[in-house]
Amino acid sequence: TVEEPLHVMISGAPASGKGTQCHLITNKYGLVHVAAGDLLRAEIETGSENGKRAKEYMEKGQLVPDEIVVMMVKDRLLKPDSVENGWLLDGYPRSLSQATALKELGFKPDIFILLEVSEDILVERVVGRRLDPVTGKIYHLKYSPPETKEIADRLTQRFDDTEEKVKLRLNTHHQNVEAVLSMYKDITIKINGNSSQKEVFAQIDGALTTLLEQRKASSESM
Ligand code: AP5
Repeated sequence: TVEEPLHVMISGAPASGKGTQCHLITNKYGLVHVAAGDLLRAEIETGSENGKRAKEYMEKGQLVPDEIVVMMVKDRLLKPDSVENGWLLDGYPRSLSQATALKELGFKPDIFILLEVSEDILVERVVGRRLDPVTGKIYHLKYSPPETKEIADRLTQRFDDTEEKVKLRLNTHHQNVEAVLSMYKDITIKINGNSSQKEVFAQIDGALTTLLEQRKASSESM
């Protein structure tokens, strides 16, 4: 029998390290990384009407309306690479209505990872974050500085990465997180995200390894 691919959701406050951990997870597990925020930023780049509308909400740190986000994520999850290799869904669902829509479309995660990070650390991570537009790699001026001067010179900052904006994003997160968690209670694993990238990944890796072992054991006993 062909093994079902893994379906993983990762959630957490702004700058809790979702994108960073997703890079590490996809490297090891070969899942397709589907990030709602990245899909929205790509839409903004195209200059479309949906992109323009999305940006208005993102600048205020609010959730972009479902009619824009739900279809966007659904289309990405239905692409052949996600269907074949499994997916790692980052930053979605962020509200009860998004979680419900996903369920109605038949998308069911095997595990829901919640990164928990204290608020003062979140702010420091946001203001120091930089992105490499060439490779897409996420840097931090203090915690993961660029390797060369050439990279340092081309780094960019996100338009919503200021202390003021992250507070708005945090409020939105607090308003919605409990409702989303209630949908995935029985498959949620809480990870302490305050430590180093490597230590956080070790916890996630352990949880995914356990999950795969449990699956294997239950398929063998059938
Ligand atoms: P989105 O792009 O998803 O932003 P976010 O949730 O605010 O999360 P971030 O991308 O800021 O952080 P992250 O957790 O990925 O952290 P990272 O790994 O980069 O969403 C943006 C906006 O889009 C939303 O505000 C909303 O408007 C809209 N949107 C998105 N999804 C939506 C949805 N489903 N519905 C409606 N609207 C939606 O790490 C941060 C920094 O910390 C980096 O510099 C990194 O190097 C550093 N770092 C990471 N881990 C560590 C560590 N362990 N130790 C030290 N430094 C670390």
